[in-house]
Amino acid sequence: MSETRSVIELHTKTNPEWAQMAIDNFDAILIDHAHCEKKAAASAMAMVSRYPEKPELVKRCIKLAQEELRHFQQVHDRIIKRGLVLNRGGRDTYVQELRKALRSDGDERLMDLLLVAALIEGRSWERLSILGEHLSDESYRNFYSGLAQAEAGHYRVFIDLAKLYCDDDAVDKRLEELAKMESEIIAKRPLEPRIH
Ligand SMILES: [Fe+2]
Ligand SMILES: [Fe+2]
Repeated sequence: MSETRSVIELHTKTNPEWAQMAIDNFDAILIDHAHCEKKAAASAMAMVSRYPEKPELVKRCIKLAQEELRHFQQVHDRIIKRGLVLNRGGRDTYVQELRKALRSDGDERLMDLLLVAALIEGRSWERLSILGEHLSDESYRNFYSGLAQAEAGHYRVFIDLAKLYCDDDAVDKRLEELAKMESEIIAKRPLEPRIH
């Protein structure tokens, strides 16, 4: 995990108590995780709808949406296997807080949408990695380690797209600002059985 951490811009590590809480409430984590994957697929397609004239973005977001949908399917299969049922899900206040930082115009909006998406993927990588290390069931550990690596790749996709369409230095500077904000949001969150 540490090797990947060095390339993912996260300013705060998850509270160490989160791991045990997540293991103790794993059914709730699984349900929340399913919602995260479903929303990630929808967000990728929302980017396609917003920026249809950018072919590289469209290509990469279609692939991303397919991968996230596949993750959703895999998590949903496990929900069914455990005799659980997916609920409607609640508000995602972590994402809502992050989105408050989005600037409203043109390239700034595009840059912020891509960087906020990258940070959500980065935090997902961290949390799924923790599950991949600490869950007692080996098949679940492997499942989560694999998903974590995919999320690390998604982080990279969003950073690369930001640098394709916006100035490199401006992206680095803004990523630093948004990562600082993300770390403040995550540090303030209550300890709950949620991915974020
Ligand atoms: Fe995913
Ligand atoms: Fe992802």
